[in-house]
Amino acid sequence: METSKRGQWGSSFGFLMASIGSAIGLGNLWGFPYKMGKTGGFAFLVIYLILVALVGIVLMLGEFALGRKTGKGAGGAYTALAKKYSFIGYMAVISPFLILAFYAVLGGMVLRYCLGFLVQLFGVDGFAGQGSGFFSWLLYSEQSMLLFLLLFLVCTMVIVMGGIKGGIEKFSKAVMPALGVILVVIIVFVALQPGAIEGYKFMFQPDFSLFADGASFFEVLKTASGQMFFSLSVAMGINITFGSYLSKEKKLQRNAVMVPLFDTLFALLAGMMILPACAAFGVDYAQGPGLLFASMQKVFLDGMGGTAGNLMGFLFYFLVFIAAITSSIALLEVLTAAVVDRQLDKGKEPKRKKTALVFAVLIFAIGIPVALDALGRGGAAIQAPYELLGLTPDSPGYAMWNDCWLDFYDMITEGILMPLGALLMSLLLGWVFPNLVKDECEVSGHRFKGAAYFKFCFRFVIPVVMLLVLATQIQSFFL
Ligand code: TRP
Repeated sequence: METSKRGQWGSSFGFLMASIGSAIGLGNLWGFPYKMGKTGGFAFLVIYLILVALVGIVLMLGEFALGRKTGKGAGGAYTALAKKYSFIGYMAVISPFLILAFYAVLGGMVLRYCLGFLVQLFGVDGFAGQGSGFFSWLLYSEQSMLLFLLLFLVCTMVIVMGGIKGGIEKFSKAVMPALGVILVVIIVFVALQPGAIEGYKFMFQPDFSLFADGASFFEVLKTASGQMFFSLSVAMGINITFGSYLSKEKKLQRNAVMVPLFDTLFALLAGMMILPACAAFGVDYAQGPGLLFASMQKVFLDGMGGTAGNLMGFLFYFLVFIAAITSSIALLEVLTAAVVDRQLDKGKEPKRKKTALVFAVLIFAIGIPVALDALGRGGAAIQAPYELLGLTPDSPGYAMWNDCWLDFYDMITEGILMPLGALLMSLLLGWVFPNLVKDECEVSGHRFKGAAYFKFCFRFVIPVVMLLVLATQIQSFFL
């Protein structure tokens, strides 16, 4: 039987934990706080939450349903609907590929911080750095960046080679609760620091002054939409693959609500840890991708200090590392599954290990510019896109080329491929196959109560929002 060669989830709980484990990762801990910090705190938060409810949950259910109905990963699922739609599936698979390239670089940095604090625990100082200077040092240390990128990818690959059940499920179950606990401990510590209150105000005090000029509204919408795709892992085929491993008795709709719920909870926890810490320790909210590292260095080294700081630093980065690994294995899994499915379709023996290895090598290669451009700070081993093209911030088209390779990969995925994929998918599920999701949800014998809401979102809400996001992205090319 095909299913046994592809693998299936051991239990419902295992499926839920693996989906949550794949959703919760650097997107929540690293991405959400820095994007909220950069785009106005409260305003971002409100738009983000609305997008999760109207777009994220709905797309996730659609993907689970597609995967389970067709029994295929992203590539094969659309082909199974009709040959002319197969391009949507392949388009979806490009995103995990590009994302993993920068995800592994960040994951490697997390690993470096984790080991740094571990070494300091044994009394050797200076390995997790003195204050924020360490981050800049690390960005320019070519050996470290490449070594840790490689280490992170090898960890990911070894787990994926183990196969679906043995590999992913075992890993996911214990980690998320532990991560939740340590976040809460740090949140409490930060809350007790003088000045932290400003961070909560930034997040939760209603303030829409940012929207006074219309352009900012669309910027925030675009940023929040990209963050939503990234954090929930929707619109890139991953949940199609996950759904395809799910047996018919399981309730799809419950999983499609639980995963975004937990994911958003963890994003909020991360925000409530990092932004008040910025307020208390004088770190600039709007500084961009380094925010997690900069603010947490202050907490561990200056706030807690000594052995306590080193211990907490080690534990924190260890759990972030594991959370990142559970996401990266899902990213590599979706790529591997796409190829394994094709091999099965052609009647060949699936070559899972070889496929995972080939992808890991390719991803290492396209991760190199991300690892070596020092996030576009200039003067690094590899030039950022704008440097290569000789653009300055006021050159026309500067926005298109962004400021570092990470942002460039991000722009292609979050800004173009995912909104476009989401648009096409919702049109298909809303208009062309309007009963697919409902029927698949009711296969288990339960009535699907939310069907009307989901249909309305597929038909109208998601297409409109996605067109706005795409228009904002395209417009930015010309500014
Ligand atoms: N959602 C993950 C995070 O928040 C990252 C991610 C994006 C991902 N796309 C994915 C994880 C696909 C697994 C599969 O960190």
